[in-house]
Amino acid sequence: MPESTRIGLVTSGSLLEGLTARLDDDYDLERLRVGQFVVVQGRQNRFFSLLTDVQLAATSPSILADPPGDANPLLAEILAGRSTYGTFKITPQLMLPEDVSLGLRPVKTIPAHFAPIYEASEDDFGLVFGEEKDGKFQMGQPLDMDIPVCLDLHRFVERSNGVFGKSGTGKSFLTRLLLCGVIKNKIASNLIFDMHSEYGWSGTTENTNIEVKGLRQLFGAQVMIFTLDADSSRQRKAPYDGEITISLDEIQVEDILLLQEVLNLNATAAESAYICVEKLGKSWISKILAMDTEALKDFSDQSGANMASISALRRKLIAVERLGFVSKNSNLSSISTLIDSLLIGKTVVLEFGKYHGDLAYMLVANILTRRIHNLWLEKMNKFEGSKNPADKPPHLMITIEEAHKFLNPAIARQTTFGTIARELRKYSVTLLVVDQRPSSIDNEVMSQLGSRITALLNDDKDIDAVFTGVSGSKGLKAVLASLDSRQQAMILGHAVPMPVVIRTRPYDSEFYKAMLHSSTSSPQRHAAPVPVSATQTQDDVDDLFA
Ligand SMILES: Nc1ncnc2c1ncn2[C@@H]1O[C@H](COP(=O)(O)OP(=O)(O)O)[C@@H](O)[C@H]1O
Ligand SMILES: [Mg+2]
Repeated sequence: MPESTRIGLVTSGSLLEGLTARLDDDYDLERLRVGQFVVVQGRQNRFFSLLTDVQLAATSPSILADPPGDANPLLAEILAGRSTYGTFKITPQLMLPEDVSLGLRPVKTIPAHFAPIYEASEDDFGLVFGEEKDGKFQMGQPLDMDIPVCLDLHRFVERSNGVFGKSGTGKSFLTRLLLCGVIKNKIASNLIFDMHSEYGWSGTTENTNIEVKGLRQLFGAQVMIFTLDADSSRQRKAPYDGEITISLDEIQVEDILLLQEVLNLNATAAESAYICVEKLGKSWISKILAMDTEALKDFSDQSGANMASISALRRKLIAVERLGFVSKNSNLSSISTLIDSLLIGKTVVLEFGKYHGDLAYMLVANILTRRIHNLWLEKMNKFEGSKNPADKPPHLMITIEEAHKFLNPAIARQTTFGTIARELRKYSVTLLVVDQRPSSIDNEVMSQLGSRITALLNDDKDIDAVFTGVSGSKGLKAVLASLDSRQQAMILGHAVPMPVVIRTRPYDSEFYKAMLHSSTSSPQRHAAPVPVSATQTQDDVDDLFA
């Protein structure tokens, strides 16, 4: 290993609480950064750790009671290092045994007293995060170095994942980066519910309003754009491959009930809707809408439904029927084309145009996802039987912004999204949930997320939510709260060997160039990565985040 800069040495600590260290006298305290990656050299292991806190200390309280004044800089200098000094806290995240071939392991012990602590070198980053090739994708750089920090996309898509952060912190940009990685490396098909039309053809930066390239501009025909609002696409001069219409017959009672809050439905609406389906069958909505007051009265008399409740339901259904993309009879061909594109491994962006309200977003996302879920389930079952690789559907990642609308505790058990988040990884469909309020997402869903890529969050509830199901997260919470308000993120979970803070990769012309060129590997700049031990099982790795 080349010489690294020494920071200090371990003075106390525990496996559970992390380590406390004393800063070396000649190391400038202000160089330390919360979230920094540091290395402790134990006798038998190197401990890769995160810096979580910095503190001031003094050997005697009397010095602090009578501090040297401005007039006495020499005295302050004499005290510094002997009587006043800095301490810092670190949490070991991974350890590498002396025998490097054993690979990186979860931390099961701690270094002894006075083990030296160093700044992580480029080689250390290389050992842990690898270089950009074989499905590893650069998400950004460490806070204080110009080297790549990579995420393992194969592992990433295996589980559902989350991108979190306050509004304006860079969630959509992070999501675009991730999607670019997945598309470029041909890791999975993608379906993106693009509520604000910012992924397909182009997006814009917030303050400067500069247009940035969407996925279609970067990946051409590999990305298909479907729209609910062709007028908006034409106005934006954004190309699209198909218009989506939803037929009234495709809307199920469950879809309407999920809109309970949006439509302001009362408690008896569910009962009335179920009676309608039972008596009128699949086309219940068209049939109810076609009834005048008299017909409605006859129907409620015959069916035993409450007249007032059925009339109220009918009024709400009119709002659904009025959505421009809802049609009385649709041949469904456009949805089938969309799904066929996913089946051959393409990425589909569904733009909502002017229909960016909750009603349209939730209705369409639910209906489409249910159809896809059923189809993937069917195909996976067939594949289980035949074991013929041709029967296996491609892995699909579904990206949803404002994910809490589908995954809040009140409805997560009823939506297809909830089902996917909880169990669908075995059917090759996973979610990428993007949200600014992770605390409003169901706990069980949060704990299933394999990787969490989080920009700044201020609310304690949201910060706690991001760490649902992550052990030893106390120090990491402080790190998260200290991120810059833009273009910084913490990645933690399944797709990275240890939690890491990054400056997010700029989404700029250099990035476009990297996406357009066919070779994904950048020249080797540091040591080859050490495998997360070959003898290690998947469970061991998951252990890191258990
Ligand atoms: N990786 C990045 N590259 C370039 N600009 C970025 C990046 N991340 C964030 N930004 C800037 O920050 C702004 C907010 O990001 P955005 O992803 O729209 O936030 P959010 O989706 O969290 O509201 C963007 O408009 C852009 O100007
Ligand atoms: Mg956004």
